[in-house]
Amino acid sequence: MASKQFKRYLVTSALPYANGPVHIGHLAGVYIPSDIYTRYLRLRGCDVVSVCGSDEHGVPITIKARKEGVTPQEIVDRYHNIIKDSFERLGMSFDIYSRTSSPTHAATASDFFRKLYDEGKFVEKTSMQYYDEEAKTFLADRYIVGTCPKCGNDRAYGDQCEKCGSTLSPEELIDPHSAVSGSVPVKRETKHWYLPLDQYETFLRNWILEGHKEWKSNVYGQCKSWLDGGLQPRAVSRDLDWGIPVPVEGAEGKVLYVWFDAPIGYISATKDFTPDWEKYWKSDDTKMVHFIGKDNIVFHCIVFPSMLKAHGGYILPENVPSNEFLNLEGDKISTSRNWAVWLHEYLDEFPGKEDVLRYVLCANAPETKDNDFTWKDFQARNNNELVAVLGNFVNRALVLTKKYYDGLVPACGELNDYDRETIAEMATVKGSLESNIEHYHFREALKDAMNIARIGNKYLADTEPWKVIKTDPERVKTILNVALQITANLAIAIEPFMPFSATKILKMLAVEKFAWDSLGSVDLMAVDHRIGEPELLFEKIEDDAIQRQLDKLEATKKANQAAEASQKVEDQKEEIPFDDFQKMDIRVSTILTAEKVAKTKKLLKLTVDTGIDQREIVSGIAEHFSPEELIGRQVLVLVNLQPRELKGTLSRGMILMAEDADGKLRLLGPDEKTVNGAIVG
Ligand code: MF3
Ligand code: ZN
Repeated sequence: MASKQFKRYLVTSALPYANGPVHIGHLAGVYIPSDIYTRYLRLRGCDVVSVCGSDEHGVPITIKARKEGVTPQEIVDRYHNIIKDSFERLGMSFDIYSRTSSPTHAATASDFFRKLYDEGKFVEKTSMQYYDEEAKTFLADRYIVGTCPKCGNDRAYGDQCEKCGSTLSPEELIDPHSAVSGSVPVKRETKHWYLPLDQYETFLRNWILEGHKEWKSNVYGQCKSWLDGGLQPRAVSRDLDWGIPVPVEGAEGKVLYVWFDAPIGYISATKDFTPDWEKYWKSDDTKMVHFIGKDNIVFHCIVFPSMLKAHGGYILPENVPSNEFLNLEGDKISTSRNWAVWLHEYLDEFPGKEDVLRYVLCANAPETKDNDFTWKDFQARNNNELVAVLGNFVNRALVLTKKYYDGLVPACGELNDYDRETIAEMATVKGSLESNIEHYHFREALKDAMNIARIGNKYLADTEPWKVIKTDPERVKTILNVALQITANLAIAIEPFMPFSATKILKMLAVEKFAWDSLGSVDLMAVDHRIGEPELLFEKIEDDAIQRQLDKLEATKKANQAAEASQKVEDQKEEIPFDDFQKMDIRVSTILTAEKVAKTKKLLKLTVDTGIDQREIVSGIAEHFSPEELIGRQVLVLVNLQPRELKGTLSRGMILMAEDADGKLRLLGPDEKTVNGAIVG
C-alpha cells in the first residue's frame, strides 16, 4: 500500500486482565514495545494518544472471586491498583490507564451493542449449554472441570487443559462436573446473540490479505489461516452475572461477552482522556496501532474490526504488532503455577533499576520467535552492556570535563578526519533507528541507540584524552566537546527505551530535553555551559542478587511439584458391601527373617509370625527395602489371601503397604508394639 500521510496516532495496548499482576511476559510482548513507540512519536512532536486500562470482566475473575470468597469487584479493584501502580513505576507513559468497570465504558459498550442490535447486525440463536441445577446457573466452559482425554489431568477445564495445553470442549472431558457446586451439569436451552463473522469475510480478506501484506508474518499468517478456514458466527453474549448487561428486553442474566466489551474499552478510555476523542477514532488520517500478545491476534484482527465495520464510523487499525511469547528460565510463564517474574515484585526488589528491566526485555524481546528470559542473561546484559558500555562512556565524558575544565563545556577546535568520521557515523544512526521503530523492530532499534554509546566509547579509547592532556591540551578540548555532544545525543536516542536514564543524563548535563530532530547534531552542548554533577548511570549487579531470584524460582518449582504430587490421588474404587470387607483377615505380624530371592531383582522372601503360625511370604519390595531394615518390624498381613507359588516358595499372604503417587512404599504397622495375631478391622 502506498504509505498514507497520517496527522495523528492512536496507540492502544492490550488491556491486561485484572485477575493477577503483570509479569515480564506481558511487558516484553506488549507494553515495552508500545511505550517505546509512543515515546518516540511524542519526541518527534507527533499528536499521539496512548490508551490502556484493566480488562475487568470475564469468567476467570468470577472464578477467582468465588475461590477467595470475595466479590469480583474486590478482585478487580485489587489488581487494577497493583497493575496501574506498577506500570507507572516502570515509566509506562499511557495518557490514560482506564478500566472496563468504569461508567463511561458501560455506556459505550452498551450503546455499541444496542446499535448493532437495532440495525439487525446480530443473529439470535438458541442452543444447548451446560447448566448447573444445584447452583442454578449456566456454566461457561471454564466452569466445567474434568479429566483431560489427552493427558489424564483430572483438573482440566472445559475449554483447555493447562497441563498439556490442549484446547478442549466440555463434551470431551471425562467425568465433567461443575466447578461451582461439583454437581454433574445438564444441558439446557439458552438464547444468545451472534456476530455473523462469515458475512465479513470478504471485507477482511480485502482489508488484511490484500491491504496489509506489510503486517508481521506471525500476525498475517494467523489471519490468513483463520480466513482460509472459514469464519463462523461468534456469540457476543454470555449467561453470567458479572459484566455489562445485554441492553435488550428479555436478556435478564445475560452480559456482553468479555471479548466484545474489552476492545471497546480502547474507545471508552480515549473518551475518558479527552473530549476530543472522536478526532482520534473517526478521522481517516489517524493511524491506529494495536499492541497485543499473540493470543490476542484473532480478536484484534478479525473480531474487533468486524465489530467496528458493523458499527460504522470508526477507523480500523493500521497495524497490529504482536510478539511471540517470552519463557522464563526455559519454562512457559504461568500465572497459576506462579512461574513468572512479577513486575511489582521486581520493582520492589530492584529499586532504581526500572531501565535495566526495560532494556533487557527489549533487547531480548520475542519479536519473531519465543524467547527465554534468564537471570544470568539479565545480569550479563546489565554488567556488560549497560554498565560497561553506556554507563562507562557517559561517566568518562562527564568526569573528564569536570576534572579538566571544572565542568564547563570546552570549545571545539578544528576537527580531524577521525572526529568527522565519528560524528558522521553517529549521525547515520538516526535514520536506522527511525526506520526500525516505525517498522516495529524494537530490538534492532535498541541496538542502534546503544551504538551511539559504542561509538562514544571507541572514540574516547582511540583518542585517549587522559594521555593527550599532557602533550596537547588544546586537542583535548575538541575531544571532550565531541564526547559531550555524543552524550547529549544519547539522551535523545535512549529516551524511548530507557526514559529514567535519559532524564538522568540530561540532569547531569544540566540541559533541557531535546527534540528528536536534534539527533545527529553536534551543537547540542554550548561552549562554556556548566554541566551538573556526574553520577553513575548503572551499577553492577552482583551474583548474590541473581542467586536470590534463582532461589525464589527454585522454591516455586518445589512447591509446584509438591502440590502436583499431592493431587495425583487415585479415584475411589467401586463400593463394596460390609460383608466383603469382613472376609479379609488382616493380622499384626512380625517379620522374622528376610532374604533376597536369588536371580530376581524385586522379590524378598520373608518369614513372618502371624500369631496364628509362622509362614513364608514372597513380596515384591526388594527395590524399596533392604532385608536388614525389615527384620523385627511389626506389619499388617492379609493372611487369608489364596496361597500362591512364587519362585519355588508357597507365598501365604500379603504384607500391606501404602504407595504414593511417586511409587514410594511405606510399611504399615500398629502405632505401638502389640501381640502378633491382633485382628485389624
Ligand atoms: N485481557 C486480554 C488479555 O490479557 C486482552 C484484552 S485486549 C482488549 O489477553 F482489546 F480486549 F482490550
Ligand atoms: Zn491434558
